Amino acid sequence: MRSVPTVGVFDSGVGGLSVLKACTETLPAAKFYYYGDNERAPYGGRPKEEIAQFTAEALSVFAALGVDAAVIACNTATAACIEEMRARFGFPVVGVEPPVALAAKRFDRAAVLATPFTAQSDRLKALIARFPQTRFEVIALPHLAEAVERALRWGAPLSLAEHLPPGGDFPCAVLGCTHYWLIRRAIARFWGVEVFDGAQGVANRLREEIEKIGIGVHVWPHLGVNECFTTKCNKNTKNRAIFLGNCSRINKNLFISNVCFNNF
Ligand code: DGL
Repeated sequence: MRSVPTVGVFDSGVGGLSVLKACTETLPAAKFYYYGDNERAPYGGRPKEEIAQFTAEALSVFAALGVDAAVIACNTATAACIEEMRARFGFPVVGVEPPVALAAKRFDRAAVLATPFTAQSDRLKALIARFPQTRFEVIALPHLAEAVERALRWGAPLSLAEHLPPGGDFPCAVLGCTHYWLIRRAIARFWGVEVFDGAQGVANRLREEIEKIGIGVHVWPHLGVNECFTTKCNKNTKNRAIFLGNCSRINKNLFISNVCFNNF
C-alpha cells in the first residue's frame, strides 16, 4: 500500500483551482498535480468531441505521472465526456457538476449559471429533473469563464453587468462552472443572492475514492510540493499536452493565496 496518494486535477484554465483548494484541504496528505489548459480555454463553446480530446490529453499526462485518481474540475468537460474518460483510464475519475441538490434542499427557485455547453447538456437536464420541487432557471453565460480567466491571469477588468442578466425570480444561484467560484462573492453581491458551489462535494467524493483504493489518507503531509502546469506557455513549445519541465509553471501558492481567493 502506498502511503501518499497522488491526484491530478484538471480544468480548462484557472477555475479548477477552486476545486484544488478544497481537495488539498480535505486530503492534506495527498500530492496534487494541477493541469490548466489555459492555452485553449474556454471550453464552454466548443463541440463535445474537441472537449473530450482535450480532456483525454490532460488525463494522459496524469496517467504518465502515475496518479492514483484524477479530478475533472470542469463542469463542461464532466458534462461532455466523464463516462468516456472513466472507461478509458485505469484510475478513478471524479467529476464536478452544478450542485443543484444543495439549492433544492432549501429553495423552491434557483438560477443555475453555466457555460453554453453545460447549460444545454443532457447531463444537466437529467440532474435538474431529479429535483422537481425546485424550479431551476438555467442561464448560459457565453463569455464569463473567459473574462474570469483574463481577470485572474492578466488583471483585465471584469464587469459582471456585461455578463449577467439583471437578476430574476430566484433567491439563490448554483455555480455550474468552476471559474465562477473565483468571483462567487461578486456574483452574490450583484444579485443579492446566496450562491452554491460544488468544490467541497468533489473533495469529499475524491476522499471516498482514495479510501476505496486503500491508500492511507491520515499520514503526515508529504514532503514534496504540489505542482501546477499550464498549457499557456512558451510559444515555441509545440507539444501543448506534455509540457513538464520545459514550460512555465503556475505557482500554486501565488494563485491560491494572492489571486484567486482574495481578490473578488
Ligand atoms: N471551468 C470550466 C467549467 O467548470 C470551464 C469553463 C470554460 O472553459 O468554458 O465549466
